Amino acid sequence: MPVPKAELHLHIEGTLEPELAFALAARNGVTLPYADTAALREAYRFSDLQSFLDLYYGLMAVLRTAEDFTELADAYLERAAAQGVRHAEIFFDPQAHTARGIPIGTVVDGLAASLDRAEERYGISTRLIMCFLRDESAESALATLEAAKPYLDRITGVGLDSAEVGHPPAKFREVYEEAARLGLRRVAHAGEEGPASYVREALDVLGVERVDHGLRCMEDPSLVERLARERVPLTLCPLSNVRLRVIDTIERHPLREMIAAGLLVTVNSDDPAYFGGYVGDNFSAVGEALGLGEETLRELARNSFLAAFLEDDEARRERYLGEVEAYVFRGGE
Ligand code: ADE
Ligand code: ZN
Repeated sequence: MPVPKAELHLHIEGTLEPELAFALAARNGVTLPYADTAALREAYRFSDLQSFLDLYYGLMAVLRTAEDFTELADAYLERAAAQGVRHAEIFFDPQAHTARGIPIGTVVDGLAASLDRAEERYGISTRLIMCFLRDESAESALATLEAAKPYLDRITGVGLDSAEVGHPPAKFREVYEEAARLGLRRVAHAGEEGPASYVREALDVLGVERVDHGLRCMEDPSLVERLARERVPLTLCPLSNVRLRVIDTIERHPLREMIAAGLLVTVNSDDPAYFGGYVGDNFSAVGEALGLGEETLRELARNSFLAAFLEDDEARRERYLGEVEAYVFRGGE
């Protein structure tokens, strides 16, 4: 079994494997513009974030009923458990569904039905984080938060995702202020394709507690120093960065430099069905490419639990951290 870990950057819609997409398409009478799963996989050659997002949002057409979302989450949790995941903080994109006429309640109820059984079935504790699409308006984000109010007992926090460049964090100041008033935790994608200044803005204007990706902070030494000093976790997604051409090759991932700079980094999968691997595969990929030793892999696993939103269950965090310390590496993790 791989090292125990938390996954903190995972879009549930990005776990839709081609086989499940075709099964749901058949069940729901949706025609996909691909002949079969092989043809769909062939289309997974992305040139940047936008080229991925176009396919990602398109394929969501197959997700229609609460049961579809339950099946999607069950399939993810089963795979995650096999890769050592003990705790998962799962993003979903309500606007990508409400725009197609699927009520937010259908999405949350469907996901919750799976998450309610996750501990018993897969040994995984879970949290849900709803993301606003930053290429939609601030008004749409506010309306989405309003629509989510009946479901906030199921939702731990808010995030910000989709096309980054040209959509700076400050656009969402108001909705993040409201989220904070409602007691929601706050994270945001920043510094994936966008500049280091978006990372600063996410901290200063949105008050985020974790930064998703944050890779481009490395272009701003004073920002790196601040992130290290304030112990702001970064949720890195190495295979995603390669597939979306944020970096050229996995060997060039700056993970080692980030650790050396004192950053609290974690390794995650982002959209594993599209990017060639789940979180354990991301650990293996950076482990091999960057020659990380056991102690570094253990540190990454430890960081994942330190960065998790487990303040309401510190005993659980301690238990998970104990599992990391007790873990014996056998190679290949
Ligand atoms: N939505 C799903 N995956 C994403 C990513 N890597 N960046 C921004 N938005 C996303
Ligand atoms: Zn992401």
